[in-house]
Amino acid sequence: MINQAFLNDPYPAYRALRAEGLLHWSPEFCGGAWLLTGHADVAAVLRDPRFSVRRAGGWANSSGPGALAELREFKRIFSRSLLFVDAPQHTRLRQVMNAGFKPAALQRLAPQIQRIVDGLLDDVLAKAVGGTGPFAEFDFMRDFARPLPALVIAGMLGIGAADRSEFVAWSDDIAAFIGSPTPTLEIARRAQISLIAMNEYFRQLLPQRRAAPGDDLMSQLIRAEASGGIITTKELLAQCCTLLFAGHETTRNLLGNGMLALLQHPQQWQALQAEPSLLPAALKELLRFDSPVQYTGRRLKVAVEMHGQVMQKGDLVIPLIGAANRDPARFSDPDCLDIRRNEGAHLSFGYGPHVCIGATLTYLEAEIAMRSVMQRLPQLGLVGSTQSWGENAVYRSLNRLPLQFARPASALHAPPTKAHHA
Ligand code: HEM
Repeated sequence: MINQAFLNDPYPAYRALRAEGLLHWSPEFCGGAWLLTGHADVAAVLRDPRFSVRRAGGWANSSGPGALAELREFKRIFSRSLLFVDAPQHTRLRQVMNAGFKPAALQRLAPQIQRIVDGLLDDVLAKAVGGTGPFAEFDFMRDFARPLPALVIAGMLGIGAADRSEFVAWSDDIAAFIGSPTPTLEIARRAQISLIAMNEYFRQLLPQRRAAPGDDLMSQLIRAEASGGIITTKELLAQCCTLLFAGHETTRNLLGNGMLALLQHPQQWQALQAEPSLLPAALKELLRFDSPVQYTGRRLKVAVEMHGQVMQKGDLVIPLIGAANRDPARFSDPDCLDIRRNEGAHLSFGYGPHVCIGATLTYLEAEIAMRSVMQRLPQLGLVGSTQSWGENAVYRSLNRLPLQFARPASALHAPPTKAHHA
């Protein structure tokens, strides 16, 4: 099922699967898995406690014989992550983490996010000055969508922007493993090395943060660790790695996939430019239309019957979020992008107890980013069809998105915004 054609456009494959039925056994997918395509089924599985999130060991196994023993450390670190623990451990960890994601705490980040966005766009504009021709070109992924979420999450965790390229590389190695339905042992080994490096990075920061805690997320976790041990040191480190990884592998793809979808649908793009107040609704629709996370996984704690088939205890189940978001039983004309669509919940942030903790932050960040791009890069457009899709089946991601905009006469710096003065 997963080949370059799927990576370029997975939606025909989802349609074909759906036409065959709502539940499929695939012997190849991650070494054997049940695939779910329907919105109602995906939502039901994601909130059903019989479907466990404990699957780090399963991945290790899927990389070949003997892999589990070799990937012991990968399993050990990630098996403490919020993403991969069930209740009651999950409930306890989620409570600790929620403190850092309260809407008021996130709103305080808005000026910081605006400054990062302005800085990146200043650079894009400065490079465009003095060139020839009425339009300037840049790579939206390299120059904007990739650095922005990495800088934002680094800021939230209180870590230096100078280390960004290092942790983005670690994160990409981990994502390559998680996002491969048939990972090789080599991909798995690289992911383990990077996860250990990331964990070690945070371990070395700990003494300094314990001595002088700030108001960053890592310090909040340290306070929780100190006040009665509701989180252990090993758990704390695993959550830092999870946040660093989850915070930018995803948001950059909302920006990239969303921008591409808008520019490929000029009427929608023009409607948004004419009425920027549509932006929050447009972001929801962009998340539905081309989900940055295409699927997740669960492992069965007990045998469960669905659509007349029995899934056995221990089986891997893959809720295909990307397919559920285009389910014609849930959304009218699902393959059509409509920024005014008002049909309720996409499943791009998951559902149930593990629903994305970063959803509000994502909307905040994406709104600031897209609004600023619209304001500062006039006559934005695609450069031919030179965009290229990456190899990751989970994190649907553009490698490159070359765009053009009207070349400015001089290096215009960010106009003062409310956020600048906040
Ligand atoms: C477009 C942006 C994003 C998308 C599409 C996205 C998607 C998701 C999805 C689908 C899940 C559920 C996974 C599952 O149930 O197996 C999830 C969970 C999670 N996300 Fe996000 N995410 C995004 C941004 C973020 C950001 C910005 C952060 C952190 C700063 C973040 C942190 C997390 C964490 C920690 C979890 C685990 C929650 C739990 O297990 O309780 N995500 N995300």
